[in-house]
Amino acid sequence: MEVLEAIKTRRSIRRYKADPIDDKTIEAVLEAARWAPSWKNLQCSRFVVVRDDKMRNQLADTLFDIGKDMPNPAVKALRAAPVVIVACAELGKSGYNNEGKLSTDKGEYWYMFDVALAMQNLSLTAHSLGLGTVHVGGFDARRVADMLEVPPDFCVVSMTPLGYPDQEPKARPRKELSEIVFYGKFGSG
Ligand SMILES: Cc1cc2nc3c(=O)[nH]c(=O)nc-3n(C[C@H](O)[C@H](O)[C@H](O)COP(=O)(O)O)c2cc1C
Repeated sequence: MEVLEAIKTRRSIRRYKADPIDDKTIEAVLEAARWAPSWKNLQCSRFVVVRDDKMRNQLADTLFDIGKDMPNPAVKALRAAPVVIVACAELGKSGYNNEGKLSTDKGEYWYMFDVALAMQNLSLTAHSLGLGTVHVGGFDARRVADMLEVPPDFCVVSMTPLGYPDQEPKARPRKELSEIVFYGKFGSG
């Protein structure tokens, strides 16, 4: 699958078949994450592969509601998919210069960028192999860190279920290029 085709046909998948995923396929999506660019190539991203049924359900329990009596739509996905990948980041690396000082006005949070790039590589590769994912950010990261025994110099950033899709969602709309792209200066068409 070509890159642009994969980008355009990927969807957030929230319904999964129970079919297992073989180890080689899981390794292929993790390999794509491994090759993502990162701040000074420090590669602060880490990935925890969770297959255990009980643990996946406990991860699902950490998701925040998106409104009153409105559960996060990814809860069922985490329970149903055979695998959940939890993305973590080593703190104090991304965004820092060689003297260990913050390099930019974005502070310490460049690790979010590194992990996002890795997770998008992972999602697109998963999609190209017929697997579904959905980036999940709305959860209690501290609880997840405790459950997975993530050390204190790392934090949990996001997670995704990984499995064979049991739905074919329509594309969600995107803004037109004319709304998001400026030529020369911000705001000029
Ligand atoms: C940073 C981030 C956090 C997200 N968190 C959640 C989430 O907690 N639950 C969920 O169901 N979807 C979540 N999503 C998925 C978005 O809702 C989805 O990508 C968006 O609606 C566009 O749909 P598409 O991915 O099918 O194109 C998240 C996506 C991103 C990029």
